[in-house]
Amino acid sequence: MPTALVLGASRGLGLEFVRQYRADGWRVIAAARSDEGVAALKALGAEAHQLDLTDAGALAGLGWKLDGESFDVAIYNAGVIGPRSEGAQPVVREDFDGVMHTNVLGPMMALPLILPFVETGNHGRGGVLAVLSSRMGSIGTMDSNRSWLYRVSKAGANAALKAVSLDARHAICVALHPGWVQTDMGGPKADLTPQQSVTSLRRTLAGLTQRDNGSFHNYDGTPLPW
Ligand SMILES: NC(=O)c1ccc[n+]([C@@H]2O[C@H](COP(=O)([O-])OP(=O)(O)OC[C@H]3O[C@@H](n4cnc5c(N)ncnc54)[C@H](OP(=O)(O)O)[C@@H]3O)[C@@H](O)[C@H]2O)c1
Repeated sequence: MPTALVLGASRGLGLEFVRQYRADGWRVIAAARSDEGVAALKALGAEAHQLDLTDAGALAGLGWKLDGESFDVAIYNAGVIGPRSEGAQPVVREDFDGVMHTNVLGPMMALPLILPFVETGNHGRGGVLAVLSSRMGSIGTMDSNRSWLYRVSKAGANAALKAVSLDARHAICVALHPGWVQTDMGGPKADLTPQQSVTSLRRTLAGLTQRDNGSFHNYDGTPLPW
C-alpha cells in the first residue's frame, strides 16, 4: 500500500490531499497543530500527529516516531499569508516571525528530517518530497508586490527546497504552486476548488521523474521559473 505524509493538514489543501489519498486506498500519516485538525484527520482514516511545524522539539519527536517508515509522497503543506499589504511597506517583526517561521523555518527543519524517509519510498526507487509554494514566490515572474512578506517567504521556501534537492540521491524534490484555490487563504472567489487543485497536483506528483528533482511546477505540471 503506498504511503503519504502530509504536514500541516487540518483544513484546506492539506486536508484535501489526505481525503484524496485515503479515498485512493493509500495509507496516510498527517500532522496538524489543533485538536480539531487532528480529529478531522482521524475521521478520514489518517494516522494523525499533533504538532506545530515551527516547534523544533515537536518535529524532532515526529522524526523518532517515523523511524522505519518510507514515503512515496511527502508534502510540506502548511503556510500562512500574513498581512495582505499593498506596496513594499516596512515589515513589522511580529508579522515577519509569524510568516517566516511557518513558511521558511518549518521547511528548513522538516524537509531535511523527512528526506531520508522519502529516499526509501517507491519500493526503494525514491518517492517525491514536495513543498506547497506559490507562484507569488517566483522572482522571475514577479509583477506585483501585494502581500510582499508572503512572496519573500515563498521565495525562501523555494530556495530551501532547491537546496535540499541537492542532497537527494533517489527522491524527487519539488516546489508546487496549487493555483488560486477556494480555501480560507484563497477566499471564495478563487479559480479552483480544493478538489480540482489537489486532483491536478496529485496527477503532477505521480508523473514526475528523476529529471524533475529540484524544480518548480504549476499544479498542472507546467514548469515555473524560480
Ligand atoms: N489557497 C491558495 O490559493 C494558495 C495559493 C498558492 C499557494 N498556497 C499554499 O498552499 C498551502 C495550503 O494553503 P491553503 O489554501 O490550504 O491554506 P489554509 O486554508 O489557510 O490552510 C493552511 C494550513 O496550514 C496549517 N498551518 C499553518 N501554520 C502551521 C504550523 N505552524 N504548524 C502546523 N500547521 C500549520 C493550518 O493549520 P491551522 O488550522 O492549525 O491554522 C492549515 O491547515 C500553503 O502553503 C499556501 O501558502 C495556497
